[in-house]
Amino acid sequence: MKTVTYNGLCFKPFITSEQIAERVGSIAAEISETYEGKNPLIVCVLNGAFPFASDLFMNLTTDAEIAFVRLQSYSGTESTGNVRQVVGLSESVKGRNVVVVEDIIDTGRTMARFLEDLKVQEPADVKVATLLFKPDALQMPLQPDYVGFTIPSKFIIGYGLDLDGKARNLKDIYVLNQEN
Ligand code: IMP
Ligand code: MG
Repeated sequence: MKTVTYNGLCFKPFITSEQIAERVGSIAAEISETYEGKNPLIVCVLNGAFPFASDLFMNLTTDAEIAFVRLQSYSGTESTGNVRQVVGLSESVKGRNVVVVEDIIDTGRTMARFLEDLKVQEPADVKVATLLFKPDALQMPLQPDYVGFTIPSKFIIGYGLDLDGKARNLKDIYVLNQEN
């Protein structure tokens, strides 16, 4: 696999599509077992989580529903810390078993803010599934329930993760090459 360049920044291969598929399969199996007969509502945080949420959802072997929200806190390669809910949930979450699906938890501000909004709507239970988790960057008291990969605090792209809207369609995940 080769390096890729976006906006003049060079990224090197980090996690392969095969590794992603394997982890997504195991998380889907775990969720299917835990939520058997509970018809969980899978809430995909757009835009970044859509490939993960889709693969996860399609691998569930129990009945489940899916809904979408759109939040934004990033500009370029930096978190602005200013979380905006651009598109809200239209489904009722009251009394539901909710699994929030994120691409990555970095500072945790996006997720913490969203969980606050969600809890007001009185779900029966809320769990968080994130494909990637940067524990060293975490600034909020938050522990995701399902984690695909725990990674260092470096900027990554691919499989839904973007740099200013680009690179989401890369099948593998790449990390910013900080040597140049
Ligand atoms: P947080 O609020 O700092 O946890 O940031 C979460 C959001 O920032 C994620 O949903 C991503 O959209 C974005 N983000 C965080 N880290 C990265 C990264 O390394 N690459 C691309 N987007 C990222
Ligand atoms: Mg995101």
